[in-house]
Amino acid sequence: MEVLSVASELYPLVKTGGLADVAGALPGALAGSGVTMRTLVPGYPAVLGRMTGGREVARFDDLFGTTGRLIAGRVEGLDLIVLDAPSLYDRPGNPYMGPEGWDWPDNWKRFAALSWVASELGLGLVDGYSPQVIHAHDWQAGLVPAYVKYGPSATLKTVMTVHNMAFQGTYGADIFGQLRLPPHAFSVEGVEYYGGVGYLKAGVECADVVTTVSPTYAAEIRTPAYGMGLEGLLNNRSSTVFGVLNGIDTSAWDPATDPALVQNYTANSVQGRINNKRAVQEAFGLEPSDGPLFSVVSRLTWQKGIDLLVANIDMLVAAGGQLAVLGSGDTELENAVRGAAQAHPGRVGMITGYNEKLSHLIQGGADVMVVPSRFEPCGLTQLYALRYGCIPLVSRVGGLNDTVIDANIAAMQAEVATGIQFAPPDAGALADAIRRTLALYADEKTWKKMQRRGMKSDVSWEASAARYAQLYASLIGYSTDDAQ
Ligand code: ADP
Ligand code: GLC
Repeated sequence: MEVLSVASELYPLVKTGGLADVAGALPGALAGSGVTMRTLVPGYPAVLGRMTGGREVARFDDLFGTTGRLIAGRVEGLDLIVLDAPSLYDRPGNPYMGPEGWDWPDNWKRFAALSWVASELGLGLVDGYSPQVIHAHDWQAGLVPAYVKYGPSATLKTVMTVHNMAFQGTYGADIFGQLRLPPHAFSVEGVEYYGGVGYLKAGVECADVVTTVSPTYAAEIRTPAYGMGLEGLLNNRSSTVFGVLNGIDTSAWDPATDPALVQNYTANSVQGRINNKRAVQEAFGLEPSDGPLFSVVSRLTWQKGIDLLVANIDMLVAAGGQLAVLGSGDTELENAVRGAAQAHPGRVGMITGYNEKLSHLIQGGADVMVVPSRFEPCGLTQLYALRYGCIPLVSRVGGLNDTVIDANIAAMQAEVATGIQFAPPDAGALADAIRRTLALYADEKTWKKMQRRGMKSDVSWEASAARYAQLYASLIGYSTDDAQ
C-alpha cells in the first residue's frame, strides 16, 4: 500500500510539538506492515537545508499565484516530497509564525497550496507514484480531504488525523474564491464553517476516516467541552471516527543509549539516574538536593495547565521538593514561572526556549514529570517519562488518562501503577496529587518499583501502527494479511 502523509512539521527536520514527533515516527513504524509512507512537507529552510541529492519531480507555474516545484529525496531515513516554493516557505521563524511571534497573514495560502499539491500527487502528478490513501495531519492539511472529495478521483481515499481541536485554521469567506474549489464546496458538506472557511472542519467533514490520537480524546471531542464547535459533526459520523494512541520512537528515546544523558541506564540500573539528576540540577541552578525533583517540558500555554502548577510551587518547595521548568509560550505564564524561580533560588529553576537535548536529560534525571493539562489529545512527554523512569504526574484527560495508571490503592495492590493522576484539572486537585507524590517518593522501594514498571510499559508504535495499516487497508478494500 502506498500512503502519502501530509504534515506541516516533521522530526528531526522541523518541530514545534508532538505532531512533528508523530509524523516523523509513523513511516518507520509502518514499514513492517506493508505500508510505504512518503511525507509531503513544505520546503522551509530547515527542510531544504538538509536535502542533499533530491531530484525534482514536478514544477508548478501557477501555485496559488507563485511558482514552485517538488523535490523527492531521502533525509534521515524518511522518504520526503518537499514543496519548494520560496515565496511561501522560505522565511525565518517557525512553520507558522514570524520571528516576532505573529502568525503569517498568508497561512491560509501556504497550507492550501500544500493540501492542493497533495491532492495532485494523489491524482498521479508524478509518473510512477500513485498513493492510494492520503493521510492528512491537523488543520494545515485539512483541505486535502476537500480537494479529493471535489476532485475527479473516485478511488483515492483520505484519513484526517486531529492532533489538537484547539487549532482549526479558520478564515473569512473572502479567501474561498482563491482556493481552487468548485462553488458548491462552500457549503455545510464542504469547507464552509460559520460563514467562513474552516480547514480542520473541511477535513473532518470530507475525510473518509477521521482519527485522533487517543481513545479518551476521541470520546471527549464528541462533547461541547472538548469538541470546540466540531462535536456535532463528529457525532454525525461517529462510526468513522477512531482514537489511535500515539507511540514514541523507542530508539531515539532509549535511556540505555541516549547520548544526551550523562549516564545511561536500564530498568535494572535506575540508581544511575542520580548522575543525570545532578546534571539537571546544575543546568537549572538548583542545589544538589536528594529531595524529589519535579519537572516540566512543555509549551507554556493555557492548555498545558502551567498556572495550576504555579499555584502550588510554594507548597512543593516547603515540602522539600524542587522544580525545573523547560519551556516557552505565553508571556504571562513565562513570567509567573520566572517569578517563582526568583522567589525560590536553588529550589526552582527555569530555562526559557526550546532545547531538544536538555529535554532528554530532564527525562533521564528528574524524578517527576508534571503534565497538568486542561485537555491533552495524547501527550508525548508522559510517554517519554515512562520510558525514562521519570514518574508522570498528570491530569486525567485525553491521552494522559489512557497511558498512565494512577497509583490508587487498587492499582498499588495489583502492582500495575505507573504514575499519579488527578481530576478535575484544577489547582486543588493538583495539590492533593503533589502530596501523594511526595509520600510515594518517601517510600524508596515502592518508588523504584513504579519506575521499573513504567520503563517496561509498552509505549512503542507497534499496536497503533498496525491499527493505522488496518484503517488504510479497509479504505481501499485490501487485506493487511496480503501484505505479510
Ligand atoms: P504538544 O504537541 O501539545 O506540545 P506533546 O506532549 O504531544 O504536546 O509533545 C510535545 C513535544 O515537544 C515533546 O516531544 C516534548 O519533549 C517537546 N517539547 C515541548 N517543549 C519543549 C522545549 N521547551 N524544549 C524541548 N522539547 C520540548
Ligand atoms: C498535539 C497535542 C498532543 C499530541 C500531539 C501529537 O500537539 O496537543 O496532545 O500528543 O499533537 O499527536
